Amino acid sequence: MLDVAAIRRDFPILARQVRGRRLVYLDNAATTQKPRQVIEALVRVYEQHNANPHRGVHTLATETTDLYEAARAHVARFINARRAEEVVFTENATAAINLVAHSWGRATLKPRDEVVLTHMEHHANLVPWQITAAETGAVLRFIPLLPDGTLDMDAARRLIGPATRIVAVTAMSNVLGTINDLRPLIDLAHEFGAVVLVDGAQSVPHIATDVQALHCDFLAFSAHKMLGPTGVGVLYGRYELLDRMGPFLAGGSMILKVEWERSRYNEVPWRFEAGTPNYADAIAFDAALDYLEALGMDAVREHEVQLTAYALGRLAEVDGMRIFGPPDATRRGGVISFYYGDIHPHDVGTVLDYAGVAVRAGHHCAQPLMQLLDVPATVRASFYVYNGRDDVDALTDALTETAKVFGYAARTRAG
Ligand code: ALA
Repeated sequence: MLDVAAIRRDFPILARQVRGRRLVYLDNAATTQKPRQVIEALVRVYEQHNANPHRGVHTLATETTDLYEAARAHVARFINARRAEEVVFTENATAAINLVAHSWGRATLKPRDEVVLTHMEHHANLVPWQITAAETGAVLRFIPLLPDGTLDMDAARRLIGPATRIVAVTAMSNVLGTINDLRPLIDLAHEFGAVVLVDGAQSVPHIATDVQALHCDFLAFSAHKMLGPTGVGVLYGRYELLDRMGPFLAGGSMILKVEWERSRYNEVPWRFEAGTPNYADAIAFDAALDYLEALGMDAVREHEVQLTAYALGRLAEVDGMRIFGPPDATRRGGVISFYYGDIHPHDVGTVLDYAGVAVRAGHHCAQPLMQLLDVPATVRASFYVYNGRDDVDALTDALTETAKVFGYAARTRAG
C-alpha cells in the first residue's frame, strides 16, 4: 500500500491552493507533478555539473556525460531492456513514434503494405503513420473496439496477416483507460514477420513494464507523465532493428565522419540524438525512476486499481453520468473519461476548477475516437501516486455542484 500522505509531502505543488481550495490534481494522464527529489536533481545539474555531454574532455563535460549515460542505463533497467543502447532519448513519446514512422517506416514500407493501428490511438500514434503511409503507398488498417472499450481481437486476427509490416498499438488508452492485452497481438504480428510498436505513454508510468517479456520491438513513452521533467521521451528499440535504421534528425553528435558530400553515421543510440540533447532533464528523469522504484511499480499499480474501483463506484452514483471504457478496474488504468448529463465537458471542467479540482476536458488528442463515442469531448479524471479517496470525493462533490450551476437535475442517489 502506498502512504499517500507521506508521498504528498514530497510534492511542493500539492501544498498550493487553487481558487482558495486545496489543489486536487486529477490530470495526471496529461502530465504529472514533480517530487522535490526530481526538482532538486534538476537544480543540481545546473548548479554542479552543467556542460554539453559527449563534446568535451573537461571535468564538467565528463561528469555530465556520465550522468546522462547513467540515466539511459537506468531507463533500460526500468523497462528490462537487454542493453542501454536500446534506449534513445527523444523529446517526448510523440517524437519517439515519429522517429520510427520516419526512419523505419520510410525505409521499409512499400505500396500496399499494411500498417495496423487501433481505434483507440492517440493522434501521436495515428498522424505520423498517415504521413508515412501517404509517402510510401502503405495502407492503414484499424482494429475496432467492442462496446466495453476493449479491442476486438477477432477482428485483429482477421486484419493482421501477410501484408502487415507493423502493428502500432497503445498499451493503455488515454481516453478509455483500457489496458490492452498486448502479448497475443504481438505474437500474431510476429507470426507474419511484422514488427510491433507499443505506445506506452500511459502504461509505463503506472504498470511495471518488461520489454523482453512483452516481446515488443519498439516502445515509446514520456518522462513528464511519470514524475520526470518535460522535454524527455524514450524510444526503446530492439538493437538489431535500431542498428538497421537510418537517422531521423541530422547534425552534430549523430555522425562518425563528415565529408563535404557524405557522412558516416554514429552508432546506436547516438545516431538518433542529433544536436545537444536535453541532458539536464534526462538526468533529473533518473531521479524520477528512483522515486518510482522506491515506491515499487507493483504497489503503484495496486494503489491505482483500488482508487479507480472506488472512483468508478462513486461516479456511478452520480445521476446523468456516462462513463466510457471497461467497467472492471483491473482491466483499466487510472483514467476515467465521462460525459455528465447534457453539460459540455469544458463547462464541467471550468466549474470543477472553481472547486480546486483539475481535470482535462476536451478531445484528448483522439478526435476520431470521440466520433466513435458520439461525443464532442469528455471530462477526464486521471490518478497517480499522490491521489487518494479524498480526491475522488472532492471530484464527485464538485460534480454535484456543477449540476446545480447548470440547473441540471443530477444528484447523488445517496443525497
Ligand atoms: N497525451 C496527453 C493526454 O492524453 C497529453 O492528455
